[in-house]
Amino acid sequence: MLKTRFTEMFGVQYPIVQGGMQWVGRAELTSAVANAGALGFLTGLTQPTPEDLVKEVKRCRDMTDKPFGVNLTILPTLVPRPYGEYIDAIIQSGVKIVETAGNNPKPFLPKLKEAGIKVIHKCTSVRHGVSAERIGVDAISMDGFECAGHPGEDDVPNLVLLPAAANVIKIPMLASGGFADARGLVAALALGCDGMNMGTRFMATKEAPIHQKVKEAIVAGDERSTALLFRTMRNTARVYGNSVAKKAIEMEHEGKTIQEIGPLVAGARGKVVYETGDLEHGVWSAGTCMGLIQDIPTCQELVERIVREAKDLIRQRLATMAA
Ligand SMILES: Cc1cc2nc3c(=O)[nH]c(=O)nc-3n(C[C@H](O)[C@H](O)[C@H](O)COP(=O)(O)O)c2cc1C
Repeated sequence: MLKTRFTEMFGVQYPIVQGGMQWVGRAELTSAVANAGALGFLTGLTQPTPEDLVKEVKRCRDMTDKPFGVNLTILPTLVPRPYGEYIDAIIQSGVKIVETAGNNPKPFLPKLKEAGIKVIHKCTSVRHGVSAERIGVDAISMDGFECAGHPGEDDVPNLVLLPAAANVIKIPMLASGGFADARGLVAALALGCDGMNMGTRFMATKEAPIHQKVKEAIVAGDERSTALLFRTMRNTARVYGNSVAKKAIEMEHEGKTIQEIGPLVAGARGKVVYETGDLEHGVWSAGTCMGLIQDIPTCQELVERIVREAKDLIRQRLATMAA
């Protein structure tokens, strides 16, 4: 056991979370994370329709009897998505935990609360965390500048962001972005968090439903292997630093519009990367914690190792220092 306010509130064994990941967060991965005693999230918008999401929840439930949740990312997309219908699908599916990300989840909270669903809101700044707490979410997942995906525009890394957030946020908080091992988990707890959320680390596991070559690229990559897209448009995305990402950044600096860059960076091309292992086919998200990832274990092996080493760190290294 590793008991925190997070494990108590969400009824999971360990304070470790697999956050929503477009194309990656499907039943194979989320059920394996749940079976390992951590909390996994299916990615709602990976499913083409709300009906498909209900089926995916059922598929996941067929593979685990442990709690898991659904991520709903509320961001402008090239093709608009019916968020309200996805919320209804989540409620209908019987899932009791939702991870929201992107825009303020306020319009959806009354319905989710009424259905007895707990909401973890992912955000990238202290001020957004404070307003999410004020509107009544149950927990915060705080994504620092290190993270894969959308780190926001403030560029504050977690060594400052997390304790600054912990100074003012009272509800349970997860540390997210740059976490990949036991040292990260213990640091997250020391910085005032109640657990940690990981994306990139869970991509490089046996059960992640993506091509082996992508997993190997994560292992081969290091902390300098990412690139930041769309900085000039204030819609930053941290992705794997391949030739497509570099080309898109070059076009940005030449003043090209999103309509011109769009086809190069379309999500559909990223999906092909995961399916075929052609790493240069499109852009795909990955974080700086690639510098800490050296193997492709099962989720069970990964979670067990993190918990075992975290306990050793606390009981041996830290306790001896404080004696
Ligand atoms: C491939 C990939 C896809 C992601 N897609 C989403 C998404 O659709 N919605 C979301 O809220 N976060 C998404 N994220 C962010 C993760 O949930 C998590 O916040 C982030 O990966 C944490 O940083 P880390 O990769 O350093 O662990 C994605 C991350 C990765 C690696």
